[in-house]
Amino acid sequence: MPTQQLILCRVTCQYVDFGEVDQFSPEAVEKYEDALNKAKEKGIQIKALIVCHPHNPLGRCYPPETLIELMKLCNKHKVHLLADEIYALSVFDIEDPEAVKFQSVLSLGTSQYISSDYLHLLYGMSKDMASGGLRLGCLHTENEDLMRAMSTISQFHWSGGVNERVATLMLEDEKWMDSFLELSRSRLAERNKIGRKMLDDEGIKYYQGANAGFFLWIDLRPWLHRSSNGPANDPFAAEDALTEKLIENKVFITNGREMSAEEPGWYRLIFSQDERTVKEGIRRYALTALSTRLTPSKAADALQDRPSDQTQSMMGKGRMPALLGACRDGRNYTPTSTIIPAVA
Ligand SMILES: Cc1ncc(COP(=O)(O)O)c(C=O)c1O
Repeated sequence: MPTQQLILCRVTCQYVDFGEVDQFSPEAVEKYEDALNKAKEKGIQIKALIVCHPHNPLGRCYPPETLIELMKLCNKHKVHLLADEIYALSVFDIEDPEAVKFQSVLSLGTSQYISSDYLHLLYGMSKDMASGGLRLGCLHTENEDLMRAMSTISQFHWSGGVNERVATLMLEDEKWMDSFLELSRSRLAERNKIGRKMLDDEGIKYYQGANAGFFLWIDLRPWLHRSSNGPANDPFAAEDALTEKLIENKVFITNGREMSAEEPGWYRLIFSQDERTVKEGIRRYALTALSTRLTPSKAADALQDRPSDQTQSMMGKGRMPALLGACRDGRNYTPTSTIIPAVA
């Protein structure tokens, strides 16, 4: 949630560290409970747990057994569980045994595990339908108080009649919607494969099992300079320096710091671009990584020496064709699995 909104709501986020525990496994639920109890000891009352499912930026889905344990945990502590399923229809095949298929939390017989007052689901048209401009989404809840509260504020957030008309036409044309989503998923699968192949070829490791969303969580820890400028007590200073280098080479990428990563050196690579852009982005990315081992002038030469057909003109115009973005330790990242306590 943007900081401004958090300030308006008078809430702060408590991020959960998972260490060596796979944050998608049922064992991770213990970590949430520890964080909740620690917050309580500090006088912070946790009100809600946000889970992004499928996960941004790890690109993985939570298995049903983990979702069930999370529901039980929230029910036990009277904490609201917000499932953000905005990437629900952007799940694709990647031929990876670690990949988990998406199952909505609402399909899990929820009443056995959690009171309906405490379970809420968010969805929107921005991701699966590539329609961020419509500014349309929805909240599914059976909590009447929450519904009433939302109704009082929703009239200040109307999207506009034209947008609603466009969205209605899209949603009602089921044949078109099915074919659009099928094409979208096949393209995501294809670009994901291209991205992974290029990363493999460049020797860049990435988080496995990502079969959803638009991102790969890539590991640039080997390219961090331990001696980078910045406060000695800031473990992310080296990551900031590498991010700057990437931007110098016109690669805009969200880094781990921006996504509250557990450790520095992880970045979110967005692959939902046309093939040429994905390839060019990874090429520059790899060269930037390489340049941290070269002198700056040699690195610049390398970029000049190996331009793809588009590189020169794009660089000349100062465009940013490569859109690579961020994240916590490769296995464990939680910017969108967030516990929100009330500050007041
Ligand atoms: C997990 C997740 N939820 C919600 C949103 C909000 O989407 P929007 O405000 O564009 O509808 C985003 C946007 O990046 C997201 O990644």
